[in-house]
Amino acid sequence: MKLLDNKNAVITGARRGIGREIVNTFAKHGANIWACARKYDENFEADMKSIAAQYGVEIWPVYFDVTSESEVKKAIAEIRAMKLPVDVLVNAAGIADSSTLFQMTSIEKMRNVMEVNFFALTRLTQYISRMMAKQKAGSIVNISSVAGIDGEPAQYEYSASKAAVIGGTRNLARELANSNIRVNAIAPGMISTDMGNLIEQSLKEEILQKTIMKRMGRPEEVANAAVFLASDLSSFMTGQIIRVDGGM
Ligand SMILES: NC(=O)c1ccc[n+]([C@@H]2O[C@H](COP(=O)([O-])OP(=O)(O)OC[C@H]3O[C@@H](n4cnc5c(N)ncnc54)[C@H](OP(=O)(O)O)[C@@H]3O)[C@@H](O)[C@H]2O)c1
Repeated sequence: MKLLDNKNAVITGARRGIGREIVNTFAKHGANIWACARKYDENFEADMKSIAAQYGVEIWPVYFDVTSESEVKKAIAEIRAMKLPVDVLVNAAGIADSSTLFQMTSIEKMRNVMEVNFFALTRLTQYISRMMAKQKAGSIVNISSVAGIDGEPAQYEYSASKAAVIGGTRNLARELANSNIRVNAIAPGMISTDMGNLIEQSLKEEILQKTIMKRMGRPEEVANAAVFLASDLSSFMTGQIIRVDGGM
């Protein structure tokens, strides 16, 4: 069953990891996609072409650094010029800096993580939600983290940035409901991607120990939740944070 037929989605962080898998799973469910990556990359272009061909959908690569206002504006102009409705926004781009003890973490390092994970996500959401408000329809899916709910040792700024995404999600659900825009978030646990695999071995084992399913998640397990939140199956859900964490 295709859950996203006739929907057009903007997906950030599309080059690898969870964002790339969201592109693949959305395509499998019939969505056309603006696949957003930081900069032009031949391999990425080929990857997107092959996903589009496999599922018979359109995938339009769009390039911008989420932290660059001028690049974001240019990308938004490109998307607008296509004169298609934007039904879904998935904010998947994000960073985690190296783990450092709170008392040894510079404010500058914290600002950088907040810049990508919160302010950049917020700026793009402002632009896209204006388009959705005109259409009087839309679904926004933010990728937060269990770190934003439970905290994570030596990742003060990452946890705070993901908690900010959760606060923003709950707030926007209320603010955008009049425009018929739903806003939800996914809080993944430890997922096997470049970022997930960076976690230090002893911490990884500690986390797995307290995870009911005793394993890391796969990117497609996060992508499936994103499909649900983007689709009309979740039409009465907004302001929700869904944990996809194997039971933590
Ligand atoms: N993996 C986990 O265990 C886990 C758990 C909870 C939440 N998450 C969240 O899930 C999301 C995806 O994470 P992941 O595991 O897939 O990480 P990843 O493999 O490190 O991929 C991160 C993606 O974000 C993009 N990105 C980062 N900074 C960017 C910028 N300034 N402009 C444009 N794109 C940028 C990267 O682009 P490039 O390829 O160009 O670098 C990449 O595509 C993130 O928000 C992360 O915080 C991950």
